[in-house]
Amino acid sequence: MKNLEEQIRDASSLDALSRVRIELFGKKGALSKEFAKLKDVPGPEKKAFAEGLNRQKAHLQDVYDTCYETLKKEEIERLLKAQAIDVSLYSNLNEKGALHPVMTTMDKIIDYFVALNFSIEDGPKVEDDFHNFEALNLPKNHPARDMQDTFFFRDKAVLRTHTSPVQIRTMLAQKPPIRMIAPGAVFRKDYDITHTPMFHQVEGLVVGETGEVSFANLKSIMSDFLHYMFGEVEVRFRPSFFPFTEPSAEVDISCIFCKAEGCRVCSHTGWLEVLGCGIVDQNVFDAVNYKDVSGYAFGLGVERFAMLLHKIPDLRMLFEGDTRLLEQFR
Ligand code: DAH
Repeated sequence: MKNLEEQIRDASSLDALSRVRIELFGKKGALSKEFAKLKDVPGPEKKAFAEGLNRQKAHLQDVYDTCYETLKKEEIERLLKAQAIDVSLYSNLNEKGALHPVMTTMDKIIDYFVALNFSIEDGPKVEDDFHNFEALNLPKNHPARDMQDTFFFRDKAVLRTHTSPVQIRTMLAQKPPIRMIAPGAVFRKDYDITHTPMFHQVEGLVVGETGEVSFANLKSIMSDFLHYMFGEVEVRFRPSFFPFTEPSAEVDISCIFCKAEGCRVCSHTGWLEVLGCGIVDQNVFDAVNYKDVSGYAFGLGVERFAMLLHKIPDLRMLFEGDTRLLEQFR
């Protein structure tokens, strides 16, 4: 038994002590082996033998407990020393934060339109069916409602799927002419490398008297805007469909990654789709009771612009809150 006690006292770390504990007190440990001998002890001596063993066991347990306490205390002291923080040290007070690339991109877009006298309009993020769909020429059961994966609330309210409802709100609140943009967050049930359930759009709307606002106006301002954002690129208008505009177009720029030679980002087409636009559909004007007017509208995704401008490969990176990403934008 003496050398069992020594084994305990010799353990120089909690790990070592834990190994000794198994060797001594474990099911197949030294003490179990001692107790197993009990069956071979002659009857009259059994009691004394067992009492002796139990005393030894209790003694070893005491020794173990004392060693454990001592080692634990040493361990805590060692950790406290190693992890000590000098609270009297000054931190680097000059450390600067950074604006999030989505916000700097948003600001750059807004600056362009503000300089051209567009007003900035706002609307609620929890929208109703009328503003998000109906008034935008998306009647109930219209198949184009499937273009957007909507988050619904129980009482028919929705999280706005685009910033287009701000067009409706602005026209209902103001008389023409209108010259507005609406930047803000929008929501869709989507999650992959180019989609997140929340992202940002900038909507645009220009309304004047009949014949005052043309597709040519739209084309020239969109081209100029895209050159302002991306520099020397080709701009291409491609016929498309949106319920709230007719005719509608999607606008592409020549791929800024491969100089239009074809790469993974542009799916080897040489073109990158960057926004949607068109001439405001008469049904939209009817919904807000606007008469004898013409207009154009456009909408774009801010994260998409930010990804292209900063070569960010996965949209989700913008929302993970990893400061190592942000530090690159100081
Ligand atoms: N609301 C569209 C979307 O979320 C974007 C859009 C396209 C807005 C064309 C417009 C427009 O105002 O004319 O995909």
